[in-house]
Amino acid sequence: MSARVLPELIKKDDPVKPTYYITTPIYYVNDNPHIGHAYTTILSDVLARFKRSGGHEVFFLTGLDEHGQKVQQAAEERGVDPQKHCDEMAPRFLELWEKLHIEYDDFIRTTEPRHVAVVQQVLQSVYDNGDIYEDEYEGLYSVSEERFITEKEAESGEFRDIKKLKEKNYFFRMSKYQQQLIDHIKSNPEFIQPKHRKNEVLGFLKQQLEDLCISRPKSRLNWGIELPFDSDYVTYVWFDALINYITSPGFASDDKRFGKWWPANMHLIGKDILTTHSVYWPTMLMSAGIALPRSIFAHGWWLSGETKMSKSLGNIVDPLGLIEDFGVDPVRYYLMREMVLGQDAAFTMESFIKRYNSDLANDFGNLLSRVSNLIQKFFDGKLSENEDESNDGIEVKSSAEETIRNVNACIDAMKINEGIEETLQFIRGVNKYMEKTAPWKLVKEDAAAAGSVLRTAAEALRIGSLLLEPVMPNRTKIVLETFGSTSNDISWGGLSSGFVIKQHDILFPRIDVKKMEEESSSGKQELPEGIIPYEDFEKVDLQTAKVVEAEKVEKSDRLLKLQIEIGNEKRQIVSGIAEYYTPEELIGKMVIVVANLKPATIFGIESHGMLLAASNKKELSVVTVSGDGVATGVKVF
Ligand code: MSP
Repeated sequence: MSARVLPELIKKDDPVKPTYYITTPIYYVNDNPHIGHAYTTILSDVLARFKRSGGHEVFFLTGLDEHGQKVQQAAEERGVDPQKHCDEMAPRFLELWEKLHIEYDDFIRTTEPRHVAVVQQVLQSVYDNGDIYEDEYEGLYSVSEERFITEKEAESGEFRDIKKLKEKNYFFRMSKYQQQLIDHIKSNPEFIQPKHRKNEVLGFLKQQLEDLCISRPKSRLNWGIELPFDSDYVTYVWFDALINYITSPGFASDDKRFGKWWPANMHLIGKDILTTHSVYWPTMLMSAGIALPRSIFAHGWWLSGETKMSKSLGNIVDPLGLIEDFGVDPVRYYLMREMVLGQDAAFTMESFIKRYNSDLANDFGNLLSRVSNLIQKFFDGKLSENEDESNDGIEVKSSAEETIRNVNACIDAMKINEGIEETLQFIRGVNKYMEKTAPWKLVKEDAAAAGSVLRTAAEALRIGSLLLEPVMPNRTKIVLETFGSTSNDISWGGLSSGFVIKQHDILFPRIDVKKMEEESSSGKQELPEGIIPYEDFEKVDLQTAKVVEAEKVEKSDRLLKLQIEIGNEKRQIVSGIAEYYTPEELIGKMVIVVANLKPATIFGIESHGMLLAASNKKELSVVTVSGDGVATGVKVF
């Protein structure tokens, strides 16, 4: 634990050695991580670092949500086994966290045995106390949302892939805890934050709460944790996923960790998963007799300009590309500075560059260059022993102290952007102080006075860097190293004397907008995510082929094994179309296949290629070629 003292961060009523347990949502592994995932995780990392620097012992959990239909579908689309799919996706998230300098304490994956055991244990205890019952349910089911929905929800137009289902399932008596939950929310104002989200949940709870269907029959979905009391079912993915927050700190294990960390201080989430966290999760905990988390904070969404980011629009911002172009600290800075916590924010390249050039290059970076250059030039790099005792110098010192207090208050109030702005205002003030005292002139009349002005400015830079360190842990290190600052103590006066300051690289080289524009018009710029150049399309070898044999794959409702003829070649393809076609319907059809796809083993059967089909997930139609004279093995453009 860092020894730095930010005394204001430790509240008086906190225990002697305060602990702070913070979590991110666990991310679905159906796709690559994007800026939204990066944002929540950076935000948690920043809060964790602030708390650590304030003397808290911190436990920071993140991880992956690996079960459920979305993941099973993504694996099927790639033609790999779901566990293999998860194992291949996990490193992509880990790589991004490393590049973003995320210092998490645990990375949980819901397919790990430690988690499976805890989910089954919680299910069993909720079942044993009578809060899970079996019922036949007939109603509307949204495949995309993976849950039963009401008529009203279906009419809202917000749900896709709706079908009527009649099924025996297990239900959690969520309704039993409705009043208890309302009371808890009302008497714990910090439980759901920000306030407008709390009101939203209370509004939702005005209607009668329905019980929650927590099982999925294996005949429909088998990628999940088996119910401990009925092996024909797996657990609904949300009942499984939420429990990760207690698995990680050691629920039901012998060690004392769980008591140390639970209840969590902060579940950080996006606004899209507010109901699951503030209604499902607390009622599950109430039933299992476990304390509720202290706070759930829902942040807004990053939009691409004015528009929702989506794969189909090709406007998803790739965090890796940004890091490569501008470095990790500016990316962290922009995301933290630009979003007002609780509201949506617009990501644009223009605002990114503007923020970078004005706050980082002009204000912060410039101050360091000025101060260190002058100390080099006039004092051979040696820091003066004395501070500036004039009114201007004293004002810088008191402004530093006020900034520390204000930043701490902002962090406590989850106003990260305001905390950052406080620090930048302080830095701007120090730049003004430099203008006013003009040590480059003063040195000619009174060298000692100029030296002390520079020491005061250097001390201010040290404080500013410590305040920005949780947001930009790398570049602030350069500032601290320049002045030989090793002390973690943020109180004024921590710089040692007589130190010969170090040479440093430019902290934030200005982004030359003109040069960037020239590069992009000469075609050097990266394509938006999801858009491919023609050359990439050309790599896909599409050919006509004839289905000569077809049969169902044993123990699978979805898969057919096909023998196809492509030119002179015979091949075997496994295709997930059994729900839409009988083997007989396919025999003789002229289809289109991706001929140069890497072979895969699906359900233990080798598949060499892929059949093209049009599908909206409700219906599916294999793409066929009609007309006389088309041979197999003909290239399709
Ligand atoms: N697996 C569930 C969460 C289970 S937690 C027990 C899930 N996963 S997710 O991969 O879809 O990620 C959801 C989270 O990513 C959101 O809650 C939010 O934190 C973040 N974001 C995804 N897109 C986002 C934006 N465009 N902007 C900001 N954050 C968003 O839901």
